[in-house]
Amino acid sequence: MLKGKLSDEEIRMVRRSFEIIGDVVIIDIPDEILHRRKEIVAAILARHKHVKTILRKVGEVDGVYRVAKYEPVYGGETETIVKEHGCRFAVDPTKAYYSVKLSGERERIARQVRKGERVLVMFAGVGPYPIVIAKLARPKEVIGIELNPAAVDYFRKNIRLNKVEEVVSVIEGDVEDVVPGLPGKFDRVVMPAPYSAENFIHLLKGKVTDGSIIHYYTFESENIENRLSEIVARKFREHGINVDVIKIKKCGNFAPYVNRYVADVEVKF
Ligand SMILES: C[S@@+](CC[C@H](N)C(=O)[O-])C[C@H]1O[C@@H](n2cnc3c(N)ncnc32)[C@H](O)[C@@H]1O
Repeated sequence: MLKGKLSDEEIRMVRRSFEIIGDVVIIDIPDEILHRRKEIVAAILARHKHVKTILRKVGEVDGVYRVAKYEPVYGGETETIVKEHGCRFAVDPTKAYYSVKLSGERERIARQVRKGERVLVMFAGVGPYPIVIAKLARPKEVIGIELNPAAVDYFRKNIRLNKVEEVVSVIEGDVEDVVPGLPGKFDRVVMPAPYSAENFIHLLKGKVTDGSIIHYYTFESENIENRLSEIVARKFREHGINVDVIKIKKCGNFAPYVNRYVADVEVKF
């Protein structure tokens, strides 16, 4: 679409993929072709007529809240509604983490949840894992814990939007402070913080039981993929939790040769 409008060299610098979150588009526009943003915006709008805001990424996902830095190149309203597996999520990528790319992963996990399970979602963000689980499965209870107050506001709103108040609850705070005070054991725990989840494995001691399933996300180099099962099992063992690794699955790319992996593990007493 940009042929004839930008030079071949400029076209080579345009990123081929971008993320569409509801009616907000997130794209990388390198500084060298920023003066061509009008043409790039026009090309996106020609294909995606519903788009109301286009954000240029100016800083990577960073910090404890895992929010990237953006500047608008079109429009300005950053709050939007995303549809996923029959759920609706109010999100604002400038305030709280949300990734469309993980929607398949959320469905994969929800499909494993059995009737009557108690599920804990650490690092719950705006609530996509807990809410998709509550909508697609029949758990007894899903508790989500989240530190970023802006994400918690959206999470509360999303519980109401999806009418899952009976099943899903949110606790605002640091998992380090909250998890030790949670009563009872969980049948399933989701740990979607791939950059730091290993620092929180110790919290699960006493919160899981024989047969509990843990979905543990981690960023790892491709080089160790074939040993990942063993590495994950050892990490849990170091904290006094014996596990069988049921599955290791690549579920995204983080950097060259570094991927996001999920390990589904079963607790063995
Ligand atoms: C990668 S995001 C995942 C969010 C959500 N699960 C999703 O998939 O959209 C990680 C989330 O964990 C939150 N977080 C980071 N450290 C935390 C902690 N110690 N306790 C609770 N939440 C934390 C961040 O604010 C962020 O929203």
